[in-house]
Amino acid sequence: MTNLPLLFDNHGREMSYLRLAVTDRCNLRCTYCMPAEGITYLPEKKLLSWEEMLRIVHVLNQLGIRKVRITGGEPFVRPGLMDFLQELAKIENLEICLTTNGVLLENHLDSLLNLGIKNVNLSLDSLDSERFFKITRRNDFDQVYQNLMRMIEANFKVKINAVVMHGMNDNDILPLVKFTEKHPVSVRFIEEMPFNGSGLVEEKLFWDYRRILSQIKTEFPQIEEVPMAYGETSKNYHVPGFMGDVGIIAAFSRTFCGSCNRIRVTSLGQVKTCLYDDGVFDLKEYLRLGVSDEDLKNTMIKIFGERPKDGFEAENNRKGVINESMTSIGG
Ligand code: GTP
Ligand code: 5AD
Ligand code: SF4
Repeated sequence: MTNLPLLFDNHGREMSYLRLAVTDRCNLRCTYCMPAEGITYLPEKKLLSWEEMLRIVHVLNQLGIRKVRITGGEPFVRPGLMDFLQELAKIENLEICLTTNGVLLENHLDSLLNLGIKNVNLSLDSLDSERFFKITRRNDFDQVYQNLMRMIEANFKVKINAVVMHGMNDNDILPLVKFTEKHPVSVRFIEEMPFNGSGLVEEKLFWDYRRILSQIKTEFPQIEEVPMAYGETSKNYHVPGFMGDVGIIAAFSRTFCGSCNRIRVTSLGQVKTCLYDDGVFDLKEYLRLGVSDEDLKNTMIKIFGERPKDGFEAENNRKGVINESMTSIGG
């Protein structure tokens, strides 16, 4: 077996996971992510090109990155995504995962399977079409639900992401757990974070991970904890006899930073060594200076060596308060 390189940060955490946001555009307008009027999208040339992104993934893979998650915005709204994935799939020792809202999946499922891409995280905050509309401000529930069913039938490894919002989809917690009875998916409840593009947040998070678990236990007291994998964000649970699993992501409480193995590159080309920082390096500008792969590697190693220890330190180091939208970060 070949010895693959390992990369560590300044806190001894193995760095193996890149989250790459390929666009800042999205075809939905989820309230927790964007204001109703949307955000100002950037012109194409301000975004990383597909070639630049491919180069970044190649170089990071040589350094030790073993998993790349393609996010957005909504990745499928940027023309050329499937060609890009085809190129990525040629890289050895790299697992490719996607996070999508599922609206445009229908025509791509076969191609994804052909490329060996089976890990899809689907944003779906409600199983009720009216609540889905209230949250996303778009009428695409049927399309998304059908695509979810198609993925399950085709044996994709599906995780459903549901951001839990007070007064919006609290009533969806129990039906979503129930959904795992007959469907082999992982449903993950996510604490809401302030990346909504307006900076407006409740004083105190109502649905934190403890309250979400208590709510689940009101109907499923027999639920059991499943061990967490290294670098995982969700604490996982299983209702005995059910086909799927349940997870809770303490994204706002930030309980999992001790094993954080992630680096982010936004569609603008900003490097983030923590979700909560405001961008620590302009990779796009740097690449456009004409640097060599060796320079790029050394720069990335330096960046990995300067990570804050957790999301609270990263937030404290910011120049301003959080007012960006998740659509430009990719989660
Ligand atoms: P897996 O790779 O399957 O573990 O998925 P993931 O949870 O890393 O990715 P996904 O895109 O499905 O994100 C689910 C939720 O977790 C989103 O709300 C993300 O913003 C949040 N999330 C992902 N990574 C981090 C992280 O490093 N820190 C925090 N605080 N939240 C994260
Ligand atoms: N808080 C928590 N999670 C969010 N996501 C998007 N915006 C927020 C937010 N403000 C999640 C969505 C998507 C993932 C990439 O990030 O559920 O699936
Ligand atoms: Fe990593 Fe920052 Fe998320 Fe903590 S909050 S897990 S340090 S990205």
